[in-house]
Amino acid sequence: MAIRRSLIAGNWKMFGTRAEAEHLLSALKTRIGRPTDREVIIAPPFTLLETASRLLAGTSICLAAQNLHWEPQGAFTGEISGPMLKDVGCSHVILGHSERRQYCGETDEQVAQKVGAARRDGLIPIICVGETLAQREGGETTALISRQVRTALRQVQTNFSSLIIAYEPVWAIGTGKTATPAQAQEVHAAIRATLAELSDRATAEMVRILYGGSVKPDNVDGLMAEADIDGALVGGASLQAEAFARIIQFR
Ligand code: PGA
Repeated sequence: MAIRRSLIAGNWKMFGTRAEAEHLLSALKTRIGRPTDREVIIAPPFTLLETASRLLAGTSICLAAQNLHWEPQGAFTGEISGPMLKDVGCSHVILGHSERRQYCGETDEQVAQKVGAARRDGLIPIICVGETLAQREGGETTALISRQVRTALRQVQTNFSSLIIAYEPVWAIGTGKTATPAQAQEVHAAIRATLAELSDRATAEMVRILYGGSVKPDNVDGLMAEADIDGALVGGASLQAEAFARIIQFR
């Protein structure tokens, strides 16, 4: 089995002023100051990318945006492009988050376009997939997730191993309900099987698959013990330095 470096990403969503970002990032830097074998990414809102980029300079913490537009530039009022994100210091971008699918009508096809754009623009996409409670109860989870992954990767022909997938069951996001480690592992294994069909087994073994949905200090250890869970995409708890630092230091 390939060795995958663990990855903890914090999705700040639509939270934070510049003063709050400075406070949170300096608290985080003190807590995780020493070099770690774990990769850490934070994804603040667009307005804080410049501030975060400055504060993270010289650290090993990477910067992600929470969305992009697929065109590199143009008359798209209110949108932000990949080259703009690169310019401000982003290395990664979260794409297809369920909140964007749910509230902004983002489709699998649009996610695919955005994944293609991120790769063209030199950003590593963190591609979110996940089922609703009704879909889970209807027994649709595996087929749905496989379809989301296949569609999102439609424009990806090469270099699969650098992709990052985040499995985020919609019913577990911000609800305090986490998938059990076994439930998450089952879906992660299915995602890896889909990736193997799209590329090959060895490549699929190199892709990091994160779990997201109410990850907290008290449940991260159990989740991270599963074979195919390579990290976490953390929402609420990433806004508290102490909780996020503890998640990064999972055992
Ligand atoms: P949560 O959010 O940790 O607050 O559930 C996770 C996410 O939406 O990425």
